[in-house]
Amino acid sequence: MAASYTVCRLQTRGRGSVAKCLRRVDTFLHRGIGTKVVAAQTEAAVKHDSVEKNDGRKSLYAVQAERQEQAERSVLISCYSRIKHNMFLKYLSRHGDIKKHFFYENNGVYAVVEFARQESVASLLEGASIPRVSQESVVPFKSRLLSLRNLDSGESSNRPSSQRAQPQTAPTINDVMQRLSKQESIDQQITQLTEAYQLTEENISLRYLVCSLLKDVAAGYFPECTIKPFGSSVNGFGKLGCDLDMFLDLDGISGQNMKMPTPGLCLEYQLKMGNSERATTQNILSVIGECVEHFAPGCVGLHKILNARCPLVRFAHQPSGFQCDLTANNRVAMKSTELLYLYGELDPRVRLLVFTVRCWARTHGVTSSIPGAWITNFSLTVMVLFFLQKRSPPIIPTLDELRDLAGPADKSVIEGNDCTFVSDFGNIPLHGNTATPGQLLREFFDFYASFPFNKMSICIRKGTEQNKPEVAPLHIQNPFETSLNVSKNVNAAQLQRFTALCQESAWLSCQSQTMMPKSKRKMIESDEFTSRNISRTFWGVSCGLIWILFEHFIREGWQEKFQERSVWSNICGHLLAHIHPFRKLIRISVYVSSQEPRHAIIFCTALNVL
Ligand code: GTP
Ligand code: MG
Repeated sequence: MAASYTVCRLQTRGRGSVAKCLRRVDTFLHRGIGTKVVAAQTEAAVKHDSVEKNDGRKSLYAVQAERQEQAERSVLISCYSRIKHNMFLKYLSRHGDIKKHFFYENNGVYAVVEFARQESVASLLEGASIPRVSQESVVPFKSRLLSLRNLDSGESSNRPSSQRAQPQTAPTINDVMQRLSKQESIDQQITQLTEAYQLTEENISLRYLVCSLLKDVAAGYFPECTIKPFGSSVNGFGKLGCDLDMFLDLDGISGQNMKMPTPGLCLEYQLKMGNSERATTQNILSVIGECVEHFAPGCVGLHKILNARCPLVRFAHQPSGFQCDLTANNRVAMKSTELLYLYGELDPRVRLLVFTVRCWARTHGVTSSIPGAWITNFSLTVMVLFFLQKRSPPIIPTLDELRDLAGPADKSVIEGNDCTFVSDFGNIPLHGNTATPGQLLREFFDFYASFPFNKMSICIRKGTEQNKPEVAPLHIQNPFETSLNVSKNVNAAQLQRFTALCQESAWLSCQSQTMMPKSKRKMIESDEFTSRNISRTFWGVSCGLIWILFEHFIREGWQEKFQERSVWSNICGHLLAHIHPFRKLIRISVYVSSQEPRHAIIFCTALNVL
């Protein structure tokens, strides 16, 4: 085997490209901002990857086929913290060329290593040994999750490692605030926000690798199965730290994609009949879940949620830190993912706006990671898409228009639902709307501040509001299962909260502009900035934003303190003088309020979570 290895720095998804796209508003209607990855020559990819046809952009199907193939050639290795990276790579490259690798930090250092050839993984696994612990308690399930040991010198070498391992978590709010505060315009802030939180190239690779590791478990029963990520891990709207939604795809085995048999003799498998499709899905997930819990290293805390509308097993994958939801027979959700991905690739403003609105909603508690009566990220994304369809001219087409543009290969009917839409980007006409992301954000708040939720339903299939078919406070038609409401869970109080926040944010974005000279801004951004430096004028302006603090303090039960003070500036002074953590917050609100008011929306987002 060749003993060479390559040390490559992976590009972060979309970094830089988002900014470039913003600078070229006129061209971004025809360009994607997706990941650049080397084409894998799988049959499926060749069939669906009509790159030229798609103006350089790949269908989600093609991206997934490539990524899955890369993940199959990859291993995940837990390393000791002071590992010498070059030595490690040299050691591994005895098994074959390494195509890509990266190190990351998650309660220890891990390495993801992608070999150039599949045989290298087999060779590496062949050479790995079983740990010398009390042998009887070991579950002898060998996987591509390994640990590196240094049996010569112990594992506590004090030499610093040559490369820093990146965490796979979202940056802290302080980091994001710093980045945002350096921007000159709302458009730049939206871009920064997206770039700070979006999934990195490494994180996406890790997600596919975790799916591939789990596929190895399921393959014990269903050797031809695949496990595909769906949802925000792959639709382009994922934020660092989002869950990993997985789909156990048995279509290749279950007859979904089988050819009609030719006349004459043939052999058929004898298969056991389940009571219903749902019962079969529940049984499969239950058994695979048991295997994951008992055999799969790194998977802990499994819960079976088999009676949900979409049965699933939920667990944590410790080495990656991902919260995983494994589903089966969930092809409509896969189609929704494909649709969202297509919209995100059509125009970069879609991703920017979805990201910003999702972030805004999360920090204001409109959405939550805990299931409940809140608006979900999926519903919110559909709301953004609907808003973009309603622009004049529209920024994205309706789902019916996408269906009408579909070719024969795009035809898809799942459980009686028409899920057909075009996959060829080149066939989708766009209408040349040149609104900036900042304008769109403001218009989004305006739009939903006065949307007639009591009478009308949101429908991205038609791109116009429809009469509400049921009494639910919020009605968002499921794009593919059109009789269903994706926001059925949302109660009146949560909808009211959403519209109130839209009204407040719309109001903030309409306030008159007060520009601060650059020299003053520098002073405010500097670490020496204290209450003594703040002029009365700034206090007055900053008070325009104090409702955010007010809201925070109401939650903390500080109403009495507020009632004692009638003048907003006194409140600010009080906070700044006596409550250290709020110095920064006031400082930011002073800065924000002195800028173009639209900045405030983004900053408010951040402020609310401090
Ligand atoms: P986050 O996990 O919150 O980052 O977003 P997500 O888009 O991944 O949402 P979630 O994990 O809740 O759901 C995963 C995917 O399932 C979504 O992206 C959709 O494709 C699909 N999905 C979720 N909820 C619904 C629903 O109510 N109806 C339909 N048709 N699909 C849904
Ligand atoms: Mg998800």
